[in-house]
Amino acid sequence: MTDTLPDRVVDGDGFRRALAVHAAGVVVITARSEGVPVGLTATSFSSVSLDPPLVSFYVDRSSTTWPSLRGAGHFAVNVLSSDQADVAARFASKGVDRFAEPTRWRPGPLGAPLLLDVSAHLVCLPYETRDVGDHVLVVGLVAEASVGRPGRPLLYHQGRFGRFTAHP
Ligand SMILES: Cc1cc2nc3c(=O)[nH]c(=O)nc-3n(C[C@H](O)[C@H](O)[C@H](O)COP(=O)(O)O)c2cc1C
Repeated sequence: MTDTLPDRVVDGDGFRRALAVHAAGVVVITARSEGVPVGLTATSFSSVSLDPPLVSFYVDRSSTTWPSLRGAGHFAVNVLSSDQADVAARFASKGVDRFAEPTRWRPGPLGAPLLLDVSAHLVCLPYETRDVGDHVLVVGLVAEASVGRPGRPLLYHQGRFGRFTAHP
């Protein structure tokens, strides 16, 4: 299609409307940068490769968290559970200390903050970053993975947080 319509791109509203119907799991990416915990909410998380074990997410190039994240030696992916919509909202909010109460977290094995009560943690070493459009693709090599309490995932759909219900 790009051969015949090289200049044609969807308008911003149409693009956002279509993407909004794609339900996505919600994670919080965390890291420790110069001793300071940093983190942001993301739905762009994805698995990439099994061997080696790679995962990815995209971060907005205008993110104020990205410069700290980029400098960190490793990062953690915190997979949120269905009752953590407040955590997702906090890690997407400006002007708050995202790690202050009521956020519950502990330092991870390599120092990156690990959020408590999540469904899973993945501790990652930076593997590759690449500018893609107005975002940066961040690929991580998974050094450690742990599954937390069994439960349902937090989903994001049409601008709202919700829960997954399996078919009977
Ligand atoms: C549900 C949800 C999903 C988000 N997914 C992403 C994402 O994948 N990548 C990204 O860069 N920002 C994403 N954001 C926005 C960031 O969380 C937010 O803009 C960012 O934390 C702003 O703060 P910062 O400038 O400190 O990074 C998402 C926000 C929400 C609420």
